[in-house]
Amino acid sequence: MSKKVLVCGAGGFIGGHLVEYLRKQGFGDIRAIDRKPFDEWYQIHDYAESDILDLQHRDACYQAMRDVDIVYNLAADMGGMGFIENNKALCMLSVLINTHLLEAAKDEGVGRFFYASSACVYNASKQDEVDNPGLAEADAYPAMPEDGYGWEKLFSERMCRHFREDFGIEARVARFHNVYGPHGTFEGGREKAPAAICRKVIDAKLSGSGEIEIWGDGEQTRSFMYIDDCTKGTHDILNSDILDPINLGSEEMVSINGLVDIVEDIAGVTLKRNYKLDAPKGVRGRNSDNTMIRELMGWEPSVSLREGMEKTYRWIYDQVADRYPGRGTVRAAVGSETLVS
Ligand code: NAD
Ligand code: GDD
Repeated sequence: MSKKVLVCGAGGFIGGHLVEYLRKQGFGDIRAIDRKPFDEWYQIHDYAESDILDLQHRDACYQAMRDVDIVYNLAADMGGMGFIENNKALCMLSVLINTHLLEAAKDEGVGRFFYASSACVYNASKQDEVDNPGLAEADAYPAMPEDGYGWEKLFSERMCRHFREDFGIEARVARFHNVYGPHGTFEGGREKAPAAICRKVIDAKLSGSGEIEIWGDGEQTRSFMYIDDCTKGTHDILNSDILDPINLGSEEMVSINGLVDIVEDIAGVTLKRNYKLDAPKGVRGRNSDNTMIRELMGWEPSVSLREGMEKTYRWIYDQVADRYPGRGTVRAAVGSETLVS
């Protein structure tokens, strides 16, 4: 395939996986851009042309866009609830990235443009109960998104629409629901619940503390999408004729307590749970309604939470095990019988 693809945010979690997915789809000419130094990229693929640019700057976007046919914009200053609740201005500044990328895409005559939006665009009043029946695409309006991060996503979605209507940019938008998997953030403040719970359970297991801290009362609900479903869905949505923003998420809703149950079972431990009620909690209940993606694409994310969490747990275990000399020396320990003591 001779088309040149630009992946923005390629040093991040989803971007790093997407570059590899695209190569497997036959794309040989991939430009991978992120603003982080290379030693902070989760994955660097030697077959891609990797570069460091800050895409909040207009000139950088034009430089990145040179000779490009297809753009995936996954670059954003973001994280889980611990980050987005405390960094609203930084989250909103990501509007500069998508704005300048759209302008550059228009001027450079790019063929297709993908924007990664979020379930955080949905009206908060539809997420007040733990038993959420699923958020359908129309539930984003009237607008009452997540303050800061969600408003930026909703505005940028809208900008994609108007660049399509006014300038003919073939923009496509997916609303990702909480994505997890290996090669992502699991500590430092930006981690989301699946990785955070894995890390906390592993720490409790290897340190022998026997307890973990959970934000909120644990009854709040979410659905989590495994990274392989995310990369496939992203690529397929870009290539589709779906013009309006569409959910890309799992319908397998679980409480945070249920998520902890799964990770404890994978680890082969039962821990004392300490609930931190004043921690960042976000909405009470969130789930994806996949009616539209099933109808329009005949497909939906399908990797089970248990299967995806086993792979995620193994990877995080490998990252932290050497912090516990003599206890974490068995690679990817799953289940109590593999623990070296
Ligand atoms: P990530 O933080 O791992 O990756 C984002 C990358 O963008 C980072 O490596 C970061 O350095 C880079 N970046 C930030 N500002 C930049 C700039 N000015 N110039 C160049 N690079 C910049 O996050 P992710 O989980 O891979 O998310 C990718 C996209 O998907 C983001 O737009 C995010 O908002 C969206 N999204 C993710 C989730 C999720 O659960 N992971 C859910 C909904 C939406
Ligand atoms: N991060 C985190 N860490 N969350 C925890 C923890 C913990 O140790 N313990 C419990 N939680 C709870 C949070 O309080 C929240 O109620 C729930 O787990 C989910 O938290 P996150 O995974 O951090 O975020 P989110 O699902 O509310 O929002 C995420 O998903 C959106 C898309 O669906 C964010 O990553 C957004 O950036 C993303 O767009």
